[in-house]
Amino acid sequence: MSLTLSENKKDDRQAGVAWIRERLGPRSIVLIGLMGAGKTAVGRRLASRLELPFVDADSEIETAAGSTISEIFAEHGEAYFRQGERKVIARLLDSGPQVLATGGGAYMDPGTRANIKSHGVSVWLKADLKVLLKRVGRRDNRPLLAAGDPAQVMKQLISKRYPIYAEADITVESRDVPHDVMVGTVIDAIAVKLGYRPKTARRRKKAK
Ligand code: S3P
Repeated sequence: MSLTLSENKKDDRQAGVAWIRERLGPRSIVLIGLMGAGKTAVGRRLASRLELPFVDADSEIETAAGSTISEIFAEHGEAYFRQGERKVIARLLDSGPQVLATGGGAYMDPGTRANIKSHGVSVWLKADLKVLLKRVGRRDNRPLLAAGDPAQVMKQLISKRYPIYAEADITVESRDVPHDVMVGTVIDAIAVKLGYRPKTARRRKKAK
């Protein structure tokens, strides 16, 4: 069942957006999940629906470093990249509210995880292997996948990371559906997490 918040009626949608924004306060909505889960694509649309700025942590890291993620990995190694990632995300989390898409490894860092917990509402876009591989196959800008057989690497990352990603405030299955459909599902899940009750539940309570 869909909530009023993601319905198509303009007034309801606007009221829903205002309601979420008020409950969110200065916190950011932080998207986490593996490469190919749709964090950037969904995040961009989510931000536009909620009338919030969208920030992509990977792009911010590239801007700060003046080089691409592939170049950072090749020239300085993964540990150096992770150090920069931690710093950039800490800085970004201080300037909410916003929708913040993080790189797949960011949430694995305990400090970043704690920071996200205190400054944001985290949403794990959980996708299965097939969906992830289909999506990442389209681009070759991910050094971790370039280091071996993408399916094997992805399987290992799933077994290592999914138990940690499960600590997110909200989990949404990232299905192979249009991004706008995903955005509706994410908005509903955020609303419920922030304390929203669907109209039908409210009516039922009133009737008692
Ligand atoms: C990484 C994911 C990438 C990027 C880097 C490392 C990871 O971001 O941060 O290549 O460790 O999973 P996306 O998840 O946005 O592709």
